[in-house]
Amino acid sequence: MSRKIEYVGFLLAAGLLTNGPPPNAREANNPHVNYMLHCQGCHLPGGVGHPGIVPNLQDHIGLFLRNEQGRAYLVQVPGAAQSSLDDSELADVLNWMLQEFDQRHVDANFVRFTSAEVARYRAVKLTAVSAARSKVLGEP
Ligand code: HEC
Repeated sequence: MSRKIEYVGFLLAAGLLTNGPPPNAREANNPHVNYMLHCQGCHLPGGVGHPGIVPNLQDHIGLFLRNEQGRAYLVQVPGAAQSSLDDSELADVLNWMLQEFDQRHVDANFVRFTSAEVARYRAVKLTAVSAARSKVLGEP
């Protein structure tokens, strides 16, 4: 057996060629993973939701970026505000969701949420959720 083959065999046995770095080291703060762990149970892959229960985010979530009330709503909605994600992780998940689910209304120049902005909105509890939603969207 040549040295090269022995070396490749060693790498495979050590899991270095197949696995890469351990998943926790690489994905602890990956917003997609956090979406899967904290949001996807209700919002489903692709943010499609459940008609009549959990709103569809696809081609829609970006509409809330139209004003400050809308940005606040995205953070203050209970599933987001009350998650166990910290402010910085929640900012990353929202930025990821906006770009992933709604390319129609969100371009690369949109003003990304920062941890400080999330902290500011999160300190205020949203009580009338659907009223706040309708107000931003201009629905009755
Ligand atoms: C237990 C189910 C559940 C989980 C988990 C959940 N949500 Fe939600 N989400 C909802 C429901 C239901 C609504 C509709 C508003 C309401 O009644 O709270 C909603 C609405 C939203 C909206 C506003 C969409 C709109 O069109 O009004 C955003 C943004 C959102 N959620 C983000 C998140 C994020 C981010 C997470 C994860 C950190 C999350 N949600 C986790 C159930 C959930």
